[in-house]
Amino acid sequence: AVADLKGMKQGQLRLAVITTAKYFVPRLLGPFCHRYPGIDISLKVTNHQHIQERMANNEDDLYIISQPPEQPDLKIYPFLENPLVVLAPKSHPLVGQSKIPITALNDEPFIMREPGSGTRQAVQKLLETHKIDVKVRLELGSNEAIKQAIAGGLGISVLSQHTIISEGTTGEFAILDVENFPIERHWYVAHLAGKQLSVVAESFLEYLMEESHELAEKFLPNLGRDSLKQQLAK
Ligand code: PGA
Repeated sequence: AVADLKGMKQGQLRLAVITTAKYFVPRLLGPFCHRYPGIDISLKVTNHQHIQERMANNEDDLYIISQPPEQPDLKIYPFLENPLVVLAPKSHPLVGQSKIPITALNDEPFIMREPGSGTRQAVQKLLETHKIDVKVRLELGSNEAIKQAIAGGLGISVLSQHTIISEGTTGEFAILDVENFPIERHWYVAHLAGKQLSVVAESFLEYLMEESHELAEKFLPNLGRDSLKQQLAK
């Protein structure tokens, strides 16, 4: 019973999230910790493949992902859009054009995420479907490093729109209005289907779902096709 009490007041919360969730999860933790002082939080930020490995080993209480794996068996709750957009340097010749056919990406110098990245998987699937061959110049395991490489003129890439809107760096990049983009996806919070959540994990899940309304207000005006057009018109 002493352990239970301690568990409620001081519980541990283990989170593992995909790379793009780092733009909002740390910010949510502050208010949550004020509500539950004394809890210990660990937050692992990594790609989809590593998250899936952690799931297989039951290493965490909750996960944030955008491409749920078929295994293991999960309970998943969608909470916010997470579209993938084509990012180019401001000086790129396709900037300002609308409805660019996807075939225009053939032979484009491209910066690709590492194997194991869900972003990479989604991009490769779309490119394969349309038989597009981009020229992969560089593989990088970080969205931030890819942004630097784009800004440095190494090529274009496809990344979550959150990688630019959340940090106010939209100004350095252009989103190309390529047909079949954005690739529509969502963030999900998930846990192993057979797992009994701790009080703290349950509270965080509820808190995240509540807060997602505020997150939506913060992010959604900048997301989606309409705003894409507005941004391109600027
Ligand atoms: P990734 O996931 O880090 O595995 O590419 C990011 C995302 O899907 O938003």
